[in-house]
Amino acid sequence: MKISNEGSVSLHLPDSRKEVFYNPEMELSRDISVAFLQVVGNRNFVVCDLLSGGGARAIRYAKETSAKKVFANDANEYAARYVKENAALNEAENRVSVSCMGANDFLSRHKNLFDFIDIDPFGSPVYFMEELAKSSKPDSYLALTATDCGALAGVFPKTCAERYGIKLDRTECYKEVGVRNLVGMAAAHFKPHSLFVRPLLSHATEHYFRVFLKISRIGKLNTKYFYHCGKCGYCTFKSVAKCKYCKSTASKLGPVWASSLYDKAVCLEIAEKLKQRFRKSAEARKLVFTILDECDQPFYYNIHKISERLSANTPGMKNIIRELKKRGHEATRTQFSNTSIKTDAGLDNIKEIIKTFGGQQPRKR
Ligand SMILES: C[S@@+](CC[C@H](N)C(=O)[O-])C[C@H]1O[C@@H](n2cnc3c(N)ncnc32)[C@H](O)[C@@H]1O
Ligand SMILES: [Zn+2]
Repeated sequence: MKISNEGSVSLHLPDSRKEVFYNPEMELSRDISVAFLQVVGNRNFVVCDLLSGGGARAIRYAKETSAKKVFANDANEYAARYVKENAALNEAENRVSVSCMGANDFLSRHKNLFDFIDIDPFGSPVYFMEELAKSSKPDSYLALTATDCGALAGVFPKTCAERYGIKLDRTECYKEVGVRNLVGMAAAHFKPHSLFVRPLLSHATEHYFRVFLKISRIGKLNTKYFYHCGKCGYCTFKSVAKCKYCKSTASKLGPVWASSLYDKAVCLEIAEKLKQRFRKSAEARKLVFTILDECDQPFYYNIHKISERLSANTPGMKNIIRELKKRGHEATRTQFSNTSIKTDAGLDNIKEIIKTFGGQQPRKR
């Protein structure tokens, strides 16, 4: 048995992750989730941690937010036993209700109850979406984790088509594409129940994608096809047969979520809540600030890849952003790639700046 401390809670867990799941590397995800619930929740909130593992999330929600009740469910009976023990250890047993059921069964037995549902599976949340859409109530919130990033982002097109029913391919914007696919998949499941999703915060971190959604009666299914040029990497939601830069045939991919992935007012409040001094809070806050700074343009340009194609040296990101801004464009870094820029400028502007500031690479002899 080992003891792990995270946020304001202590957890007793077996030595092997195989017995009961607890991943310390997901602490940042849990910090952001707690901050999210602190922002959108209130004292009447009923929360569901559908796949609770050892209970790190559920117990943190009970201890660190004002939620009235937290339901923690896991099909693994050892996990359920540890959650109970950990709830008592943290004096949260009155606010944490533990159960041991298949997730879909649990959802079908608890319809219209939850104000916030967190689904944090191994792999994809898609297998729970049908039951989730049937049991969710309007004006509630949902958080989804997905670790099948390659399938979601189209790096594995066949798995993507089988699992998500859409056509994707590997693009230079694959992380954003994956997150847009995850939101679009959720939106498509809610639509038949006259419920709509709106992303409040989305992030791609290490090996997982995470989205926080508001579920309501009012909204629109904002999914669209996008067009991708395999030669120069250009992606756009505007319908085009050929790439406007290199005239190659563009492939039609999707459909994926096409509007914003964030509500910046909510993100700002989350950043405020992350001022608390937990181990990962500073890192989490930095991520939210990158998101706050990101300009609201879909997709991005990978500066390294473009420089490589031009056989030019890569100028500093700061220089390119400054130059684009000088020319009247919006331009920022993006959470999705350290070597990319989001901007309303065209690829031709970026190429010109790279050529001017990067210079040609010396010819190899
Ligand atoms: C990634 S872990 C959850 C980690 C936890 N949310 C945390 O933050 O520490 C996924 C959990 O889902 C449980 N699980 C997998 N399939 C399930 C199903 N169909 N119904 C209920 N629980 C399931 C596993 O036992 C495992 O504990
Ligand atoms: Zn092109």
